[in-house]
Amino acid sequence: MSHVKFYYGDSVPLEMHKARIVQKINLQPIERRLVAIEEAGYNTFLLKNSDIFMDMLTDSGVNAMSDRQQAAMLEADDSYAGSGTFTKLHNKIKEIFGKEYFLPAHQGRACENIISKSFVKKGTIVPMNYHFTTSKAHVVLNGGVVEEIFTEEALKIKSDQPFKGNMDIPKLRELIQKQGQEKIAFIRLEAGTNLIGGQPHSLENMEEIRKVCDEFGIMLVYDASLLADNLYFIKNREEKCKNMSINQITRKLADLADIIYFSARKLGCARGGGICTNSKEAYLKMRELVTLYEGFLTYGGMSVREMEAIVIGLEETMDENMVNQGPQFIEFMVNELQKKGVPVVTPAGGLGCHINAMEFVDHIPQEQYPAGALAAAYYLVSGVRGMERGTMSEQRDEDGNETLSHMELLRLAMPRRVYSLSHVKYAIDRIVWLYENRHLIEGLKFVEEPSVLRFFFGKLITTSNWQNKLVEKFRQDFGDSL
Ligand SMILES: Cc1ncc(COP(=O)(O)O)c(C=O)c1O
Repeated sequence: MSHVKFYYGDSVPLEMHKARIVQKINLQPIERRLVAIEEAGYNTFLLKNSDIFMDMLTDSGVNAMSDRQQAAMLEADDSYAGSGTFTKLHNKIKEIFGKEYFLPAHQGRACENIISKSFVKKGTIVPMNYHFTTSKAHVVLNGGVVEEIFTEEALKIKSDQPFKGNMDIPKLRELIQKQGQEKIAFIRLEAGTNLIGGQPHSLENMEEIRKVCDEFGIMLVYDASLLADNLYFIKNREEKCKNMSINQITRKLADLADIIYFSARKLGCARGGGICTNSKEAYLKMRELVTLYEGFLTYGGMSVREMEAIVIGLEETMDENMVNQGPQFIEFMVNELQKKGVPVVTPAGGLGCHINAMEFVDHIPQEQYPAGALAAAYYLVSGVRGMERGTMSEQRDEDGNETLSHMELLRLAMPRRVYSLSHVKYAIDRIVWLYENRHLIEGLKFVEEPSVLRFFFGKLITTSNWQNKLVEKFRQDFGDSL
């Protein structure tokens, strides 16, 4: 896919798969979308699928499965204990990651619960390249503190640094020396850092982190949920990895980690998750929590059909033509938006295209959730659902004050192998229109605010009547178009 040259015109991402099963999607008129977003409390998580045209909320559990995955699901060996399907999955994990022990779990955050309950004690610290919402929540619930050790480049919206997900090694060392190694529960490295725009870390950076871990006797936990994109970027951006296969890079990374966990809703294009390690001690410590919270050790809350799909999904992730599909579509979207002056996170990362709401709607204060307002406005004018990744996704501090996010992003995730290039062009067209009419968008305020993970089911209202003004302008410019 990456090496196909076009004879004339610009190169465009070329799919190395074809659709053989399709699902009808609805593009509702803007008047219906207005009712839908109002009913959803201006929270895109609460929209109904029947009101959504393109669902770019997430890539979690919504990537297209392959024919081989679907076929494998029919062969599943269903049993509570000792299922042959589990053995297949365990063997695939050993083959790909080279880890002896495997604990299944129903999704990524379930792995985080087990790891945090096992290793985070009150007052301990977990340094990470950047937090993810659920990973931080589990550390905090267990009395730990998250310390983000990112490089200066990480939070720059416009950058040409190929590995913005890297950890700052001198800062990491400084933190450990200051706090004492016994206070560090473990170091967590996240592949394809979700909250800063799907930005990757390099193999070299992980090697440096490993050295620090060895020096101070600290465990390295690797969140491989977004590994597929990170593998693509390492192969294409890291000189020494250019001639390595995806399999070889995976193994190099895996060998550096003590514990690897993943959400199979992302890695492996199915639904589930798991933790693997070569440490018998760590395995035994976590094992009983799997039976307590997830299910027996040979299914861990997953259906055998999903486990069969993960086996094939992991195998297919070792194919460069599979892992490059997401990043190439995202790059196309980022480049086209940049040409039109829309502020986007660069370089293009994995996971999705990230719009910088701080600049897009720079007239909205952070306390009025600019990224949340932009997500609601974008749905209204396009039927495309994105996700707020900003202050709404943070939690208030102990005194009830807002924790203002480092970044205010509208994330438009690119579910792999799901949308065509014409869909992506439609999504771009409506953002460009919205950018030209950005002055019409104003803020949001909570009317129902849960204290934990409020972005999932909190409800908001607009700070003025801006939604109706947007609908009016849309009708002026688009006539009776959907
Ligand atoms: C990097 C990362 N870690 C962990 C998780 C949690 O996984 P899950 O949604 O399967 O619980 C996610 C989900 O988006 C993620 O992106």
